[in-house]
Order: sequence, then C-alpha cells, then structure tokens
Amino acid sequence: MENELLIEEIKRLKAERNAVILSHFYTRSEVQEVADFVGDSLSLCKAAVNSKADVIVFAGVHFMAESASIISPEKLVIFPVPDAGCPMADMVTAESLRAVKEKHPEAAVVCYVNSSASVKAESDICCTSANAINVVNSIEDREIIFVPDKNLGAFVSLHTDKKVHLWPGFCHVHDNISEENIQELKNLHPDAEFIAHPECRSEVLNFADRILSTSGIVKEVEGSGSTEFIIGTEREIVRTLKKKYPDKKFFPASEKAFCYNMKKITLESILNSLQNIEYEIHVPDNIRVKARKSLDRMLEISRS
Ligand code: 13P
Ligand code: SF4
Repeated sequence: MENELLIEEIKRLKAERNAVILSHFYTRSEVQEVADFVGDSLSLCKAAVNSKADVIVFAGVHFMAESASIISPEKLVIFPVPDAGCPMADMVTAESLRAVKEKHPEAAVVCYVNSSASVKAESDICCTSANAINVVNSIEDREIIFVPDKNLGAFVSLHTDKKVHLWPGFCHVHDNISEENIQELKNLHPDAEFIAHPECRSEVLNFADRILSTSGIVKEVEGSGSTEFIIGTEREIVRTLKKKYPDKKFFPASEKAFCYNMKKITLESILNSLQNIEYEIHVPDNIRVKARKSLDRMLEISRS
C-alpha cells in the first residue's frame, strides 16, 4: 500500500478506536509524521499518563511501551513489533541486580528507564536522560547503584557528591560515537555548537557545549543563536531537525549512529497493530505494582 493510503487508514482506525500514537525521535520520519506526539522518554511517559485515549500505540522500543502500560494500566497499550527491544535494557536482569544489591546493602538503586519492568521492580527510583541528575540528587541515600548505562551513570556522578556504583551496560548507538568523529567535525565546522546525548562516552561529552536528552536537543536548537550544530545522538533526529529548521545546518556526529530497533516500527506495522490490536503489552501485577512505584517516584520529582 502507498504511504498516503496507509496514513489515511491509520487515521481512520485511530479515530474509531479512540487511539493515540506516541513516538520517540529515533523512529522513521514517516512514523513520526503520523504520530500524535513525538518526544523523549520522559515526555512520552507523561504523554501516556495524560492522554485521554483508550488505546496507546507505542512507536519506540519495548521498554517505552512497557513503561506506558505500567503507569497507565487503565489504557490498552499496543506495541507494533514485539521484538523491537533495546539491547542496553537487556544488559541488566532482576537476578543480576539482586546479586549486586547484596554486595552494597546500603545503596539505593537508580535505574535508567531503558530497563525491563522486573528491573524497575527491583529499583528504588527510575530516571531518564532528561532528569537523571535531579533524580539522583533528590534521594537521601548517600550511595547508589546506577543501572544499566555506565556512560549516563558516569555523567551523573560528575554532578553529585554521592558514591555511584556503575553497571557495565551501554547503548551501542551512542557508545560508538568516537572522540575522532567529533574532532574531525569540529575541524570542518569550527563554529558549530556541539550538542551531545549523555549516553555518549565521557571523552566525547568532554567536547560538548550542551549535554541533553533528545527533547532537550530539539529545544536547544530552537532557542540557540547558533546556525550550525553537531548532533551527538541517533542520526534520525538530524532529519527531524533539518525539516523543522531549514535555515540551520546540522551534522550527525556519526553516520553509524543508527538504532535499528527503533526502525523496526513501520507504517504497515502500526496499521496492523490498530487493525488487530496487536501486540498488547501486559505486565504481571506483582511486577507492575513495584515497577510503578519506581516510575511514579520519578514522575513526582519531574512534574514541570
Ligand atoms: P531520551 O529519549 O531520554 O533522550 O533517550 C534516548 C534513548 O536512547 C531512548 O532509547
Ligand atoms: Fe536502546 Fe540505544 Fe536504541 Fe536507545 S538508541 S533504544 S538506548 S539501543
């Protein structure tokens, strides 16, 4: 089916089912265009809670749809491609986390939202890239275990006086952006502002003018006086920025910064999910209730 026909049918079914489509910035541009809301992990959580829809179609990766279902259990959350996961989220399990908690009984667990429901259930509080520093500094505990992203954890540890135990997880998309990539681009575009996502390595973040979540990157471009930008995150966002700000110039930090899991969500899979109500996210109650506490605690300190 042509994209135009697919979009027409998606819109018709969306209205019929009182559904909304929530999308992350790393999905295909045509998916972002059909979405009712596009945002970073934190704003997507908030959009899920605040939505008046009966059905949420989640265009992102699995942990995002799962989080939406945990915090808004009264809604039906459907996820078009069940195997669109986040490899970093799979780098920590509830079992492996329990073993580390035993080694550090005094430490609170702060878990990046890029994690499974059962890891969230083992944690004290969740965070996203937009609020990680605030979350860590909001809790009373002096010692924390930060899972699973070692790069985000290292970035946070520079902005807190708490003792931080890092987990050896990483996002392959951001971790592969190298210092050389940035140096080369900076030589070519010396006036460009470099905005990096905190999932990048510390040696890359050292060059950054601003370190922000994906929504933060879009807002920074909007408000900045600069006309050229090096964008240190998944490259799809560069396409979105070019469309939104045709008078500004954008350079992806690396052409290889590509999240293939986000790209598994297509217009066809969204249409199928609306037609057949596939695939429903279901988190067992014993896990959901505990995981919700960690997510609610995060949302409580990130109200604005
Ligand atoms: P944010 O959406 O919080 O910027 O995180 C990026 C990411 O990697 C999501 O998977
Ligand atoms: Fe996971 Fe990285 Fe893809 Fe985000 S960009 S979903 S952290 S693999």
